[in-house]
Order: sequence, then structure tokens, then C-alpha cells
Amino acid sequence: MTTATLRRLEKLARSAAKSSYSPYSQFTVGAAVLAGSGKTYAGTNVENASFGLCNCAERTAIFSAVAAGERKIKCIVVYTPTPTATPPCGACRQVINEFGPQARVVSICDSKDRLDLSLDTLLPGAFGPGNLG
Ligand code: THU
Repeated sequence: MTTATLRRLEKLARSAAKSSYSPYSQFTVGAAVLAGSGKTYAGTNVENASFGLCNCAERTAIFSAVAAGERKIKCIVVYTPTPTATPPCGACRQVINEFGPQARVVSICDSKDRLDLSLDTLLPGAFGPGNLG
């Protein structure tokens, strides 16, 4: 992936956070995915008065990509307006694994702090489609 593409994903993730629906946590998150086709998809966290139904930004972006016909995730960028970078939660790691077991996972924030890891580092020994036989 080129630096220009990564910068584009970063910009999309920052912009997506502006649409966050997070009245309960006040924790806004934006995500952007580079999919197999080369197209990008953005998402934000969407909360619910029934707290267990809150959906993370990462999953919103991935589900948008899949709904558009994508089946592979090459890279996902997560942005939080925090002093340190936020890694994806466990549920999102599992969903990333479904479509991008080798995906690059980048977290950015409002400082120079950043995380740049592969999904298999974030979720070693993952359960995935291959385990179903
Ligand atoms: N959240 C995300 O969107 N992504 C993460 O990686 C961590 C958590 C959201 C879920 C919830 O809306 C809020 O942040 C607080 O947990």
C-alpha cells in the first residue's frame, strides 16, 4: 500500500468520526477500510439506548464494505480524538479476521502516537472460517 493510500484512509477515518452517534459514552471513533477492490469504506460507532447493541466504527466500516460486495480487507485505520492511539476491541479483531487475517491495522489519534500492527499480531491463534472444516 502506498503512503498516499494510507494518508487517504487516515483522512477518511478522521472525517467519519464526525458522524459518530455516541451519546452514552461520548467516545467518538472513525474507521476506514481499504478493501480487495481497492475501494475505501468508512464507518463510525453507532450506540444504542440498549447498550449491548452499540456497534464499533471498525465493524460499521467492514459491514459497509461487505454490503458493497467486498470480501477482503487489506487495511483498516481507526481514529480516536485521544492523546494515545486506540486499538480495536476484541470483537472487531474477530470481524477483521474474517475478511483480513493478514490485514494491516493502524490506529491514529490527536497526537503523533500511532499503532501499526498486523491482525495476526493483534489476534494470535484466531478462530476463523478454516476451523469450520
Ligand atoms: N468503540 C469503537 O468504535 N471502536 C473501538 O475500537 C473501541 C470502542 C466504540 C464503542 C462505543 O461506542 C464506544 O467506543 C465506547 O466503547
